Amino acid sequence: MKILIYGASSRIAHECARLWARDGHALVLCGRSADRLEPVAADLRVLADAPERVRTVVLDLADDLAARQTIADEDARAGGFDLLLVAHGWLPDQAAAQRDPAVLRAAIEINALSVAQLCEAAAALFEARQRGTIAVIGSVAGDRGRQSNYVYGASKGFVERYCQGLRNRLHAAGVAVVLLKPGPTDTPMARQLARPGRLADPRDVARAIVRAIARRQSVVYTPGIWRWIMTVIRWIPESAFVRLKL
Ligand SMILES: NC(=O)c1ccc[n+]([C@@H]2O[C@H](COP(=O)([O-])OP(=O)(O)OC[C@H]3O[C@@H](n4cnc5c(N)ncnc54)[C@H](OP(=O)(O)O)[C@@H]3O)[C@@H](O)[C@H]2O)c1
Repeated sequence: MKILIYGASSRIAHECARLWARDGHALVLCGRSADRLEPVAADLRVLADAPERVRTVVLDLADDLAARQTIADEDARAGGFDLLLVAHGWLPDQAAAQRDPAVLRAAIEINALSVAQLCEAAAALFEARQRGTIAVIGSVAGDRGRQSNYVYGASKGFVERYCQGLRNRLHAAGVAVVLLKPGPTDTPMARQLARPGRLADPRDVARAIVRAIARRQSVVYTPGIWRWIMTVIRWIPESAFVRLKL
């Protein structure tokens, strides 16, 4: 496969890329910072049988039109991507997002708007050639708004609904849309949240993501227990939920 990863410097994406590199897939690692992408690329070139199968591309998501053009250009250069994995994300401090309009805006732009921009760029290409997979890392946090992180959770909730509509649109074209929903995972993003022992291992999460993409599954919780935890949380009546300190 020819794979484009946005947010390739993320710990979870890096672990996915290691699995793909070992299996001989070609990887274009994309993100906002060359300094952050290059160490990931260096690691993957050691694992890949042919180092030239791993490239990096710096792309600033703030410029919507330039981002779309860059993805089209990279797609042509690669000879047509088979898979886009959207993996970037930002967990803002909830209190700061309540206080500071710039934090609120940034959280929604990074976690929601830019995800849709990337997916639309790939959707146009994949729909035209009637094949491909778009995979997006959402979060269990998107399943229900909670006082402790509802700005992040709302942006991930957008991602879920967006992926649902995109999947419905692209089904007839044979293009799969896979939504991955990790629970708390031991990466730089989540270390502030819980003790490491209570976080999932990103290698396990990556294995589940790679498997879900290979199977073209629609929505996958990882670790799988989160499917049942979130089913219970979604079913709590709102009249009771408002009283909970979650
Ligand atoms: N870890 C968890 O507990 C958890 C749980 C559920 C869902 N997720 C989701 O999993 C995905 C991967 O996160 P991770 O846990 O692997 O975290 P991570 O290692 O901290 O990586 C975060 C990634 O997001 C990128 N990023 C942050 N702000 C950005 C911006 N403004 N523009 C472009 N890129 C930006 C970072 O780029 P730089 O390297 O350049 O900073 C990095 O690649 C995210 O979508 C996250 O929301 C994580």
